[in-house]
Order: sequence, then structure tokens, then C-alpha cells
Amino acid sequence: MIHWLLQSLDDCPEILRRDAPLAWLSPAEQQRTFKAEKRRRDWLLGRWTAKNLVQRYLAQTTGETPALDAIFIGADADGAPYASWEGRGAAPYMARGEERLPVSLSISHSYGTAFCGLVEIMGLGDYENRRLEIGDWRLGSGTQSPISNLQSPNLSISQSLNRPSLGCDLELIEPREGNFLDNFFTVEEMTAVRALRERDVAQGDILTTATWSGKEAVLKALREGLRIDTRRITCRFDAFDAPPQEWTPFTVIVDDGLAAQFPGAWSGWWRIEGRFALTMALLEETAL
Ligand SMILES: CC(C)(COP(=O)(O)OP(=O)(O)OC[C@H]1O[C@@H](n2cnc3c(N)ncnc32)[C@H](O)[C@@H]1OP(=O)(O)O)[C@@H](O)C(=O)NCCC(=O)NCCS
Repeated sequence: MIHWLLQSLDDCPEILRRDAPLAWLSPAEQQRTFKAEKRRRDWLLGRWTAKNLVQRYLAQTTGETPALDAIFIGADADGAPYASWEGRGAAPYMARGEERLPVSLSISHSYGTAFCGLVEIMGLGDYENRRLEIGDWRLGSGTQSPISNLQSPNLSISQSLNRPSLGCDLELIEPREGNFLDNFFTVEEMTAVRALRERDVAQGDILTTATWSGKEAVLKALREGLRIDTRRITCRFDAFDAPPQEWTPFTVIVDDGLAAQFPGAWSGWWRIEGRFALTMALLEETAL
């Protein structure tokens, strides 16, 4: 099941006040310093959104609502985020001390808005009395996995999951220069965007943005980011009269090298929220 949340600076305006104490950060997170104010705001809004998502997810799945400062959002060496719980309450599914939640978490921020998603790697019920080690994700068998929309719960996409890895991305819809397509898009993607632009420039911008966002979501699910050439991934979107306001599938195709390196099945979804395109890419890894 995928859970997601979108937040803006209006949801946490204290981020804009540089010296405001942020009680929702854990002690370790409060130590973090930044050279650039923009980076501080982005990071904080991403943490705020991820913590609220994790809190709602735990409330929905376990009935417990930990304080935001008891939820820690960390980053692995590759930059990919994870969520842990400081275990003060000794919840039944967590040992004391800092423990990772058995979820794949993804964060994106852009222009004062943040979008986060998470998918269970195993059910919290399955997690009881087990330890989840970094790089050693022991997985329960998957069941149904609709996207559970914590904001408006009515989406019915389902598939069984095995070793899921989620990437989420948020992009402002805006025109992008011709060079952008040549540098980052596959021939198939360029052809689709140019054909649509000839008919409708605004829709061409939406497709360009959604395609770019889809690629970034895939790169996050792979935990590689832009270390991988974006032209090794093709995102294929169905024709649309109006851009979707609900989660709508798109197709993810990776080149043979990536398919061999990261074996598994891809799913992608996209939607429009105001000025932004949102995408999620899910890799259900094949057990090795
Ligand atoms: C991942 C990447 C494509 C996202 O860039 P972006 O679209 O400009 O920014 P977004 O706001 O959409 O996403 C940023 C978030 O992606 C996440 N992220 C970073 N690296 C990631 C990775 N390798 N895999 C998955 N997610 C990653 C982080 O949570 C980050 O937010 P945070 O640093 O505030 O926690 C880009 O950061 C990248 O390519 N990084 C390359 C890998 C790298 O150099 N990592 C730094 C090592 S510390």
C-alpha cells in the first residue's frame, strides 16, 4: 500500500522564521545546519511532510500516534531517506532505541511545496520481534497494495508487492528549453512532447514536466539519482484531454543494462496538483 502526502509552507509557516524553535524536530535533526537559506527551507519542509506522513501512516496502521519529534527522517550515504522511530514509547512493533520503520520512503520539494510517499516493505504486524537491518531487508509476502491516499482515500490500483522501492517527485509545470529535451529525454519522449506541443503548447509543457518528473521518480526508486543518465529511462504517458487530477498510471521502461542491474517490475502514476506535476515510480524487485 502506498501512502502519500503533499504539504506547503502554509502548513508550517514557522519554517520561514529563521530563528523559530522547531519543536517537531528530533534532537539529532536540530543539530543540522545549512549554508543556504533555500536549502534549509526545502530540507525542513521535506522533513515536516515526511514526519506527518509517517505519523498518519502509523496512526492508520497501528492506532498509535507518536509525536513528530519522536520520528526521525534520516538519509543513507546515497542520499535516499529513511524513517525511524526513537522508541520512547516502546511500541509493540519497535524495540527501544532508534529503529527503522520497514518502509520505503521518498521525498521531493519544489517552490515551497513538498511531496512524500511511503510504501510498506513489510506489514508492521509482521515486523514485531524482528529487526530490520540496513541492506538486509527481510520481507513479508505482499498482499494488496492500492495507493492509500491519506488525503482522499479512493484509489483502486492494486498489485502484489515484493521488495518494493518507491520514488516520488514533484515538479513545477513550466516551459523548458529545446536543449533540455535533447539532453535528458529519449527519442520516444522527445517525439511525444514535440507532437503534443505542435497541437497545444501548454499541454506540451505539462507532458514535458510529467516526463521529467517520472524519470526523477524512477531514479529515486533506484536510489541512484542523476548518477544515472536519464536517457536510460523512458516514461510513456497515455494521451490526455485534460491532465489527470487523480493518480493515473504511466509506463516505465528502462534499458537492458538497468533492467539487468535492477531486476523487477515497474509501475508509475502521475497527477496534477495546482501548478505541479506529481509522479510516483515503484520498483517491485525480483527476489534474488
Ligand atoms: C535524487 C535527485 C535526483 C533529486 O533531486 P531534485 O529533483 O533536485 O530534488 P527533489 O526535491 O525532488 O528531491 C530531493 C530529495 O531526494 C532524496 N534523495 C537524494 N538522493 C537520493 C537518492 N540517491 N535516492 C533516492 N532519493 C534521494 C532526498 O530525500 C532529497 O531531499 P532531502 O535531501 O531534503 O532529504 C538528486 O538529488 C540527485 O541526483 N542526487 C544524486 C545523488 C547524490 O549526489 N546524492 C547526494 C549524496 S549525499
